[in-house]
Amino acid sequence: MDNFTYWNPTKLIFGKDQLEQLKTEVPQYGKNILLVYGGGSIKRSGLYEQVINILKNLNANIHELSGVEPNPRISTVRKGVDICKKEQIDFILAVGGGSVIDCTKAIAAGAKYDGDAWDLVTKKAFATDALPFGTVLTLAATGSEMNSGSVITNWETNEKYGWGSPFTFPKFSILDPVNTFTVPKDQTVYGMVDMMSHVFEHYFHLTENTLMQDRMCESLLLTVMETAPKLINDLENYEYRSTILYNGTMALNGMLSMGFRGDWATHNIEHAVSAVYDIPHGGGLAILFPNWMKHNLKVKPSRFKQLAVRVFGVDPEGKTDEEIGLEGIEKLREFWNSIGAPSRLADYGIDDSKLDIMADKAMANGEFGNFKKLNRDDVLEIYRLSL
Ligand code: NZQ
Ligand code: ZN
Repeated sequence: MDNFTYWNPTKLIFGKDQLEQLKTEVPQYGKNILLVYGGGSIKRSGLYEQVINILKNLNANIHELSGVEPNPRISTVRKGVDICKKEQIDFILAVGGGSVIDCTKAIAAGAKYDGDAWDLVTKKAFATDALPFGTVLTLAATGSEMNSGSVITNWETNEKYGWGSPFTFPKFSILDPVNTFTVPKDQTVYGMVDMMSHVFEHYFHLTENTLMQDRMCESLLLTVMETAPKLINDLENYEYRSTILYNGTMALNGMLSMGFRGDWATHNIEHAVSAVYDIPHGGGLAILFPNWMKHNLKVKPSRFKQLAVRVFGVDPEGKTDEEIGLEGIEKLREFWNSIGAPSRLADYGIDDSKLDIMADKAMANGEFGNFKKLNRDDVLEIYRLSL
């Protein structure tokens, strides 16, 4: 196990009717509030009205930025930064999924930066401060509600990058499973694929003696696999929704990553696909992850064997580690297929015509991945396996 320092300052507020806690959380940061949300799901569900009523009762001055896109765009971040600077916003409240929260993080840091917020995303500059912000999460997937990461797309240049800073942890996040009842089946599935993929990004590392970390990862995977088939047939079940919501947060809030460095190559490869084709992040991961696994099976077959036996119930008797590992990868594909996740780029109408462009984007910062450093040929091979 490697040395580590763990620090996560986000206050996590979980459960039914916890929106009420806005009444005590928000006033700590001021009266001039920017409310950030997406394309309208919170209006249809009634959550918007509940939030507005609470803010009005606090006598807040409410400004709004709506229409944050899935795969949020830098153009929307810039609009938010302009509002913050012009209206002297004290506090930002993000109400939505990972895209709304990621956009809010970039707005919060951009509002305290003199140049263009894109500099922060491309790491041309580093945030030295950010406006405080909180979140009301409506979709279980990214973990953005309890981490400092943000993923922003520049649609003019077809670039999509992750960035983050110690200043971009939410002050608080309110997670009421009821607010996820209206997430449609396909987005629910993408979210579960995303959180499982976060666990896989942690699981594939080369550090020895991570016994507890391995078991924690396996526990999260087994929990999603047990719950997912029930949830997709019962979308308003509080217990299933709460299990998955909690799982999504724990999969990417730093709890799993103590004592080793995860891989994160598949996320980079997926971001290059969604930068060019604007597909859902979880859908892209469902297509790519099993192929990243196949491509890297030989790097450390014992790791794949452990996953196959402990999580996918593969019988190891009389088989090599590679055979066992491969059977596990196939069981992962079967499981994702069984809950309705896509399995080929063709499912999104993506053919081989832009593989070179996507590979160039994935390689923008050179070779990447910690379990195995991937070069351009590796990336192209994984894309080809995914067609
Ligand atoms: O925009 P609205 O109308 O709200 O609709 C959204 C959107 O269309 C809808 N939705 C959200 N909550 C809903 C709902 N519909 C009905 N009822 C609800 N309660 O779902 C659609 C997708 O929302 P989005 O926020 O885009 O999904 P997700 O949470 O999966 O976020 C995806 C983004 O996060 C990035 C991805 O790359 C992608 O851009 N990621 C961020 C990470 C982080 N910050 O740590 C890590 C992840 O690996 C990921 O890369
Ligand atoms: Zn992800």
